[in-house]
Amino acid sequence: MKCDLLVVSAAQLITAPEGTGPLLGPDLDRPTLLEDAAVACVDGKIAAVGKTAEVQARYPESGARRVIDARGLLVAPGFVDSHTHLPFAGTREMEFDARARGETYAAIAERGGGIRASVAHLRAVSEPALALSVAKRLGRLLAQGTTTVEAKSGYGLSLEEERKQLQALRTASASSPVEVVPTFLGAHEVPDEYRDRREDYVSLLTDRMIPAIAKERLARFCDVFCDRGVFTVEESRRILLRARESGLGIKLHADELADVGAAALAAELRATSADHLLHASPEGLRAMSRAGVMAVLLPGTAFTLGLPYARARVMVEMGLGIALATDFNPGSTMCSSMPMAMTLAVTQMKMTPAEAWMAATANAACAVGEGNRLGRLQPGHQADLALFEASDYRHIPYHYAEEHVRLAVKRGAVATDRGDCSCCV
Ligand code: NIG
Ligand code: FE
Repeated sequence: MKCDLLVVSAAQLITAPEGTGPLLGPDLDRPTLLEDAAVACVDGKIAAVGKTAEVQARYPESGARRVIDARGLLVAPGFVDSHTHLPFAGTREMEFDARARGETYAAIAERGGGIRASVAHLRAVSEPALALSVAKRLGRLLAQGTTTVEAKSGYGLSLEEERKQLQALRTASASSPVEVVPTFLGAHEVPDEYRDRREDYVSLLTDRMIPAIAKERLARFCDVFCDRGVFTVEESRRILLRARESGLGIKLHADELADVGAAALAAELRATSADHLLHASPEGLRAMSRAGVMAVLLPGTAFTLGLPYARARVMVEMGLGIALATDFNPGSTMCSSMPMAMTLAVTQMKMTPAEAWMAATANAACAVGEGNRLGRLQPGHQADLALFEASDYRHIPYHYAEEHVRLAVKRGAVATDRGDCSCCV
C-alpha cells in the first residue's frame, strides 16, 4: 500500500497503549515501548505503527512519498500543551526580581502588578503585532516538540480586548502547523475599571462577553481563575454555567494559591479539566476523580514562584487522571518547554519518566477533550509526531535545558526539521 510518510528504524518509540481515554493509576506508568519501530502516515493520519519489518510489509518504502530514517532517534507523539497563556504582550522581569527580594506573587498582584500589568501591556499593542509575536511563539513550541497547544485569553478583560487576543491567536495559528485550542479566560482577574463594582464585571462576562465569544466561535473552552483574591466559587459557578449554556467547554484555574473549593466545583460542573491544584483538598481531588475531571499539573509555576508542588503521587494513587502542561505566561511561568515540565514532574513531583511522558501526551490530549484524535501513536489518530535525538525516552526529562527535537510532524507532514545536529551527549 502507498503512504505519504514512512518513519522507519527508530531506536525507540513511546506511546500510550491503544485507546482514547486517560491512563489512570498504575497504567500511567505502563507505556507501550517498541524498538526498531516504524510509523506509516496516510492522509494526515497514522495508518500503522509497529516494528519496522511489520510496517514495511504493509507499507513498503517504494510506495512512500517520503521516508525518514529514524536510526538512533526516539519517536513519540507530539506534545499537547494543555494550558498556556500564549497570546500575551510584554514581559514582567521586574516582578521576577521583586520575588527574588522576597515579595510574593499575591502581594505583587495586590499592588497592581501581576495579571493587571499584563492587561496594560496587552491593551497597548495592535492585533497584528500581537499575532506576529504569537506566531513566533508557536514556532518555538514546535521546535520543542509541541504540536498542539491550548491557549487562553485573559489579558484583555473587556469584550474588545479579549476578542483581539483570540483573533490574534486565530491569525497566528492559520500560518503555523501547530494546532491551537483557544480558551476564553475573561474571568482571569477583575479589571481596574471594575475594582469597586466587581459584580458588574461578572454580569458583563455572563451577559455579553461569553455569548459573543461563543457566537463568534473564537473559543472552545471557558476558564475561570477560581482562587483566593480572584473569583469566588459562587462567581465561578455562575460564569461557567453560562459558558456551558453557550456551548463552551469548561476549565478552571483551581486552588492554586489557597484551597477555596475550586476542585469540588470542577467536579460538580464535570469540567474537562481543573488546573494547578497546588492547595486542593483530598476531598476535592476525590470528587474530581469520581467525576472524570482531568487534573492539569503545572510544575513550572511552582518552580518559578517557589510554591509547594501539586501532590502528583497522591493524585495518581487515587486514580485521578493527570496531565502535564507548561502554563507558559509572562508572570508565573516564562517557559514554554514541555520537556522542562517533564523534568520538573520527575524531579519535584516524583513522577516516573514514563508517567511524565504519558501525562504530556495521551492524558494531555484528554485534558483538551481530544483523546480520541490526539496524543497517541495509533491507527486512526492524527499523525502528530516528534523525533528526538535520543534512543531512550528517559533521556529527554533527564538531560534537561537542552533541545533534543530533530524533527516534528503535524498531520502527516514534516513541520520542522533541524537536520542532523548531534546535540546529545
Ligand atoms: O496560571 N494563575 C493565574 N494565571 C496565570 C498567571 C498569569 C499571570 O501572572 O500573568 C497562571 O499562573
Ligand atoms: Fe494558567
